[in-house]
Amino acid sequence: MGVRVVQADITTLAVDAIVNAANGTLLGGGGVDGAIHRAAGPRLLQACRALGGCDTGDAKTTPGFDLPSSWVIHTVGPIWTGGDHGEPAQLASCYRRCLAEADRVGARSVAFPAISTGAFGYPATEAAAIAVETITAHRATRTQVLLVAFDRPTEDHYHQLLDP
Ligand code: APR
Repeated sequence: MGVRVVQADITTLAVDAIVNAANGTLLGGGGVDGAIHRAAGPRLLQACRALGGCDTGDAKTTPGFDLPSSWVIHTVGPIWTGGDHGEPAQLASCYRRCLAEADRVGARSVAFPAISTGAFGYPATEAAAIAVETITAHRATRTQVLLVAFDRPTEDHYHQLLDP
């Protein structure tokens, strides 16, 4: 499995699946969630309504509708409250469940935003380490993984981990 880093707006990427850093309602929000819903169009919200929400650490998949990607894998990252309330394990679970969903729908390329590092406040360095560790441990998949940074510091964190 290949892992690449790119600084981009995830809604522009023509990969099989993009991951949405959503909240438990799956009814949209700000940040990357808002960008994905805007780009996918109103059918995405209709599809999400049928999913009945999503637990933290879990992932659910919808079509990509007006997006260049065929699928959106919605996941709910942990809200950072200091790191002693299971946040690392919940974040790792997001990456694992999203890769499992990508395998299930047959997505051969999947792009991840830096889950939980925006509104949910997860420290970017720790989150990047969990992302890289979980993805590289997921040997079973042939999926090409794209780690999408939205800013230079996040991109640097990923590069420091992948190309030490
Ligand atoms: N493309 C790629 N990455 C993006 C984009 C984009 N278009 N927009 C934002 N990001 C990055 C942010 O810079 C951050 O690094 O996605 C990462 C995650 O930030 P958030 O979108 O704030 O997500 P998160 O921290 O997981 O908080 C989720 O915010 O938007 C609401 O509904 C969402 O309640 C949920 C919460």
